Amino acid sequence: MTRDPSTTRPAMKAPAKKLSGRNPCVVEFFAGIGLVRLAAQRQGMQVVFANDIDPKKEEIYAANFGADHFHLGDIHALAPGEVPQAELYTASFPCNDLSVAGGMAGLDGEHSGAFWGVIRILKAKQESGEAPPVVLLENVPGFLTSRGGEDLRIALLALNELGYGVDVVRVDAAHFSPQSRARVFVVAEQGAPRAAPYTVSDSEIRPAVLARFIENHHELHWSIRDWPKLPRRESCLEDILEALPEDDELWWDEERTRYFLGQFSARHEKLAREMIASNTYRYATAFRRVRQGRSMAELRSDGVAGCLRTPRGGSGRQILFRGGMGSARVRLLSARECARLQGAPDSFKLDVPLNQALFGFGDAVCVPVVEWVMEHGVWPRLRGESAPVKATRLLPLS
Ligand SMILES: C[S@@+](CC[C@H](N)C(=O)[O-])C[C@H]1O[C@@H](n2cnc3c(N)ncnc32)[C@H](O)[C@@H]1O
Repeated sequence: MTRDPSTTRPAMKAPAKKLSGRNPCVVEFFAGIGLVRLAAQRQGMQVVFANDIDPKKEEIYAANFGADHFHLGDIHALAPGEVPQAELYTASFPCNDLSVAGGMAGLDGEHSGAFWGVIRILKAKQESGEAPPVVLLENVPGFLTSRGGEDLRIALLALNELGYGVDVVRVDAAHFSPQSRARVFVVAEQGAPRAAPYTVSDSEIRPAVLARFIENHHELHWSIRDWPKLPRRESCLEDILEALPEDDELWWDEERTRYFLGQFSARHEKLAREMIASNTYRYATAFRRVRQGRSMAELRSDGVAGCLRTPRGGSGRQILFRGGMGSARVRLLSARECARLQGAPDSFKLDVPLNQALFGFGDAVCVPVVEWVMEHGVWPRLRGESAPVKATRLLPLS
């Protein structure tokens, strides 16, 4: 049976006392198709303003949430006066320049440099006494390491200079949904008490690279919290698959299937054969990769899909392989399956061309991950709860 992964969402929290019973207002930059909004709504927050530059993303956002609060345009052209006061600003800023594939221009890059648009607006809001108490950033793991960690350092410093103490965690969507998708979150709290220098133990949300970064940057204003353990995922790849008829046009014909099966290395071919020989259908996902100048297909059969990507240049679409009862069938993941992997409910409207939907979901966030970060990272700060730092050890004063 196909299960809607969104039903596993955590319980909604009561509004904070200091918000006088009102739901916290959220401004979302880089809103895309609105999956941060979905998480915010489920956490009892109200989005009052959204910005994105891409009209195709806006089309999907508007179909699902309306366009009343959506401001289409470049963040660099946004006047601070157009942005309303809110308790939370979210910024899922572009990742293109934070990866090796993107040339590593980092926060100086044309795309990821959009981060400075948020800082410009925050600065103006601070000057007018309207800065949000909490800011939430989201990006790819490359944010921890791009240009030797310099991009993360200058981003956190910019928030520090505006009076925000910062916490950083990395969360893999695979704890919530059958998709491997690690993402970095920065939670910044206005006026947070400044912690003494400490070391941070490596943990599932603070891997060694992040723990060492924190340790090596005592000059930054940290506001590290203990977070709960990440949950165990309750669904697997099979749970999010659509039951498409055998003659659905999405399934590949024999010739294309045979060509795909010929792209495996010996190890992956063995796995495919085992799946085909099994007496129940088994599912795996695959991406094509170029290895030594040859296009190869690699199977992933642990019940988790690979990270959804944007299908730029025709590649990047995830392939589904079904083996069993002596047969093999292959197709691409459908837009609805991608929506489910990102934790969007089946009521999420996808009335756009397939590629447009896939671009939207490839760039988007996994909803239950953002909910978890909001529940454990944003809400405690909105409530003004003090930050315990049990996971840390004070460094001896030199
Ligand atoms: C990583 S995606 C965020 C997706 C979003 N969180 C979602 O759930 O769909 C980054 C977004 O930034 C937008 N963007 C890129 N450059 C921008 C700019 N200069 N001004 C405003 N938006 C921009 C892109 O269109 C894209 O939707």
